[in-house]
Amino acid sequence: MGCKRSLTAVMEFLITSRQSRPGDDPIFSLNAEATARAKAGEDIVNATIGALLSDDRALAIMPTVAETLSTLPFSAVASYAPIPGREDYRKAIAADLLAGFGLADQAACVATPGGTGALRIAFDDFLEPGQVALTSSYFWAPYRTIAEESGRDLTTFEMFDGVGRFNVEAFDQKLDELMGKQRRALVLLNTPCHNPTGYSLDQAELDATAGVLAKYADRGPVTLVLDVAYGYFHPESLDRCIATFAKLAGRVLVLFAWSGSKAFALYGQRIGALVALCPEPEQRQRITNAITYSCRGIWSNCNAGGMAAVARLLADETLHARVLAERAELVALLAKRVDFWNEHAAAAGLRYPRYDGGFFTTVYSADPKKTSRALTERGVFLVPTAGAVRVAVCAVNEQQIARIVEALRAVGA
Ligand SMILES: Cc1ncc(COP(=O)(O)O)c(C=O)c1O
Repeated sequence: MGCKRSLTAVMEFLITSRQSRPGDDPIFSLNAEATARAKAGEDIVNATIGALLSDDRALAIMPTVAETLSTLPFSAVASYAPIPGREDYRKAIAADLLAGFGLADQAACVATPGGTGALRIAFDDFLEPGQVALTSSYFWAPYRTIAEESGRDLTTFEMFDGVGRFNVEAFDQKLDELMGKQRRALVLLNTPCHNPTGYSLDQAELDATAGVLAKYADRGPVTLVLDVAYGYFHPESLDRCIATFAKLAGRVLVLFAWSGSKAFALYGQRIGALVALCPEPEQRQRITNAITYSCRGIWSNCNAGGMAAVARLLADETLHARVLAERAELVALLAKRVDFWNEHAAAAGLRYPRYDGGFFTTVYSADPKKTSRALTERGVFLVPTAGAVRVAVCAVNEQQIARIVEALRAVGA
């Protein structure tokens, strides 16, 4: 007697565009594979995840951040935060970014769950549904996910020219095309310390990029999102970036996607902000209203405890000085690895973009998936991305960097 097979077809409840969504994030699944093999006793080098680890692979934290968070009154943690975020937090973030340039009072700012939340609101409020945002050909993969979840899309321009510099000409051409089609543009630039390449635009590249943005501003609304998730790991470069693009304020809308994940080594608290630099008061109010409305409709309000801690860390002079000193130690830890990488990778003849700071670099590869697979057979885990494999220098010590370089050389990357 066999079982009776049901003749009823399975009802598809998902809408068409969601039916073949991948269930796992490629970075997190490679990390899971690396972790499982390490647990089983293999000597694994896991350079997949974007969190700064100490040389013995513990999460690098800032003790003053931990202490401040753990001594908050429970009411500050348990109560709802206001929808746009605590006022002291919003003011502190705007000031931290812009006060040095005398521009803090021109900022509209809302709290967001990480820089990710800030990016999501940027798509929702500054591009029409179905329109396409522009970023560089190497980009943090969730940009596309965030665009799609928001009902928008993403296109790219070739990031580097023939001599490995930021390809301003390709950017210009693509922006021209988009403005022609959409009469509006949202440009995402991740500098300093671009993920995944580690590239930071120098002053000439910043100036040329600002020039292109200004050129198209007469043809329709141009919004620039500066993704400064890694900005505090290259402070001089962040300042150059703000100083350059702030000059566009009033013509181009300059937004900052700010993240506390790396800046305070506080990834899990989901602390972020969207900061819009907007000199005109009425327009600033309309932008504040729109982004606050988006907060309400997407996540309601953010992590109250994380926000209270960061607000206190920025407002209290003693705590802030301690935070700056502890962050400087983390920046130095990473800088030492960056130098080590540059020395050894260059000597091994690996091809990679200019890298002078930040959590990642990438090594060019004609077949990144094949390279990544070949590396995993040698116990080295790097994330394949279009045209390259990404090395999370933040997550490995010098000995492991040496192993990565050797493995990349051996597989012919
Ligand atoms: C380029 C880039 N932007 C933004 C983020 C957002 O991070 P979070 O949402 O944790 O602030 C990340 C995190 O890895 C990133 O790499």
